Amino acid sequence: MNPFQKIPYLNLLFPPEGMIRPLQGIRLFDLAKQIQGNILEIGSWVGKSTTYIANGVRLNPNKPPFYTVDNYFTNTEEWESFYGESLNDNPEWARNIYLKHIERKGGVIESLRENLADRDLLHLVKILKGDFLSFEFPKKFELIFCDASHDASEVKRNLPKIISLLEPEGILVCDDFRYPDMFDALDEIHRFKHIYTHRYMIFATNRKLTHRLENQSFLGCKRYR
Ligand SMILES: C[S@@+](CC[C@H](N)C(=O)[O-])C[C@H]1O[C@@H](n2cnc3c(N)ncnc32)[C@H](O)[C@@H]1O
Repeated sequence: MNPFQKIPYLNLLFPPEGMIRPLQGIRLFDLAKQIQGNILEIGSWVGKSTTYIANGVRLNPNKPPFYTVDNYFTNTEEWESFYGESLNDNPEWARNIYLKHIERKGGVIESLRENLADRDLLHLVKILKGDFLSFEFPKKFELIFCDASHDASEVKRNLPKIISLLEPEGILVCDDFRYPDMFDALDEIHRFKHIYTHRYMIFATNRKLTHRLENQSFLGCKRYR
């Protein structure tokens, strides 16, 4: 039997390589485990955050639909044309991390699929390839994790659509909210009632804060508002 089926929490100990911190992943896992409605991730890369969320979905008795979207680049030209900069402008260690997946056969999406399949999670994830702004989603989402907005200009580009896809009482999680002007940019699009932060990850919602949310999901986070 697949060890990941037998010991369901093993995935949390052995996620794929990636960018989010383990304790942030555990928070995503915890939210995905309790959410009733649809879940959307923007920016899966090779599946570290995806693994935490999908494992939560697997242990969620309701098994909500989980969509993940990424450009899943297949060559450096695609990467450079999307970001408008040369990969050579990145430090060598970062370039190596990116190139390993971008330049392999099939590109980044193949690494994602392999990582999810290795952990028996692939069947739980609907993978969409492309700029998420180009997709029409038939449903709204109760949990959205966005790891694709790393400065105020990307907040202005991405968040209007993301907010339009979020249920009124949904929870928005974004990583890499490291500059104060990103909070101002978010407020201009939508002023959430509650915002918690864990390092550079934010958790924003208008829903009534339950004991479960405050004392488990957001335990140890700072209250921003
Ligand atoms: C920081 S990485 C994500 C890291 C990943 N969440 C992890 O835990 O390792 C950002 C990803 O977002 C993707 N991305 C950025 N903007 C996007 C957009 N508008 N639509 C789809 N994907 C996007 C990039 O292709 C990249 O793979």
